Amino acid sequence: MDSIVVRGGRPLSGSLPISGAKNAALPLLAASLLSDSTLVLENVPRVVDLASMANLLVELGGDVAEEPSPADAFGMTLRLSAAGLKDVTAPYDLVRKMRASVLVLGPLLARTGHARVSLPGGCAIGTRPIDLHLKALAQLGAEIELSQGYVEARAPSGLTGGDITFPSVTVTGTENVLMAACLARGDTVLRNAAREPEIGDLARCLVAMGAQIEGIGSDTLRVTGVAALNGARHRVLPDRIETGTYAVAAAITGGDLELRGTSLALISALADVLRAAGVELTEVDGGLRVARRNGRITGIDVMTEPFPGFPTDMQAQVMALMTTASGAAMITETVFENRFMHVPELCRMGANINVHGASAIVRGVPALSGAPVMATDLRASVSLVLAGLAAGGATLINRVYHLDRGYERLEAKLAACGADIERVKS
Ligand code: UD1
Repeated sequence: MDSIVVRGGRPLSGSLPISGAKNAALPLLAASLLSDSTLVLENVPRVVDLASMANLLVELGGDVAEEPSPADAFGMTLRLSAAGLKDVTAPYDLVRKMRASVLVLGPLLARTGHARVSLPGGCAIGTRPIDLHLKALAQLGAEIELSQGYVEARAPSGLTGGDITFPSVTVTGTENVLMAACLARGDTVLRNAAREPEIGDLARCLVAMGAQIEGIGSDTLRVTGVAALNGARHRVLPDRIETGTYAVAAAITGGDLELRGTSLALISALADVLRAAGVELTEVDGGLRVARRNGRITGIDVMTEPFPGFPTDMQAQVMALMTTASGAAMITETVFENRFMHVPELCRMGANINVHGASAIVRGVPALSGAPVMATDLRASVSLVLAGLAAGGATLINRVYHLDRGYERLEAKLAACGADIERVKS
């Protein structure tokens, strides 16, 4: 298994490109199942989760072709066609590796009247059930059975519109049901829908494919079903979590980075926290600039919430930043249980963190020191890379496959801005 070695203590400076959003591209690939025409997606990040979703589409009978691009280009353009759809099963092996595989459930059911998707099972950041997806699809008329670890969803004479209120906010749940509703008979209203920008991106692509959706960007989505969807060409929006991660990289190293191809508007909750902590963020032509010039970060309390609140996917990175703050920071996780696995690893690097239920008290220390560490999920892993960039000495991050799931050539982007970072093959 590969690992990454970071020798910390260098302020980062320069410019790096932000890739397309993984969490937008995943449902967009699944949306190709809704039509028998070709969907072309530009700015798809070249990360393992997208390769897994592409494999799943191919298993189902879809065609996935990559348009030629220069070898050193970031991102890719994919041509997706589900004209030859032949299977409706998302098998355990794929869903177990990547929960977002459940995003094929809504499109398959709406297009063919039948979908069979393995239940995802436990995952490193909590139990993460899909009961809300299933309840909402049942409200569109699906018959749902659980058997042998699989969800069997059937709607032999098609789905029908419904009025659905999500009891709590779910991102992929909203996406699954939104995609299904596009081909349901009649009108669907989704209330308390998630408002993450990736849902807006999916909705805009669906509209380009001929779907009728109103309320994009709000928590109430109104869909008028259509008989069929067309092909379209769509550019995936920039990854706000990657943007935020590199913003923290600038802040934690006392550096000055320009992040290209993204925007400040995508990270406003994070930007508020970073500014309060003493980091400068400015909009520049084609991106944003993040710099920390004066002294230590100030400890700031953070609580994760659904969008537009502070994203849970930035919690670990901001915790890494707060480990060397002056003063204390209370970090409260409200979206997932058990999302503090990075805490013991950060403590091994000299951080002072105590967890009390859903909150972690981070008392800033003057400096971190490098250590061998390992993490159990994507964002926890990258928080250790960030800590390593600031720490004295070498940090060895094991289980790099977590990083490869969601960060496109992380070490190349950081090295180009002066980080001493390398991948060690084993
Ligand atoms: C998505 C993101 C993930 C992010 C998360 C929260 C993708 C591919 N993944 O995950 O990176 O961390 O949103 O912003 O976009 N829940 C239920 N029942 C359900 C569905 C969810 O109880 O049927 C609970 C979950 O356990 C969790 C909360 O609702 O506690 C939010 O989860 P959800 O928004 O569904 O996260 P994902 O869509 O899985």
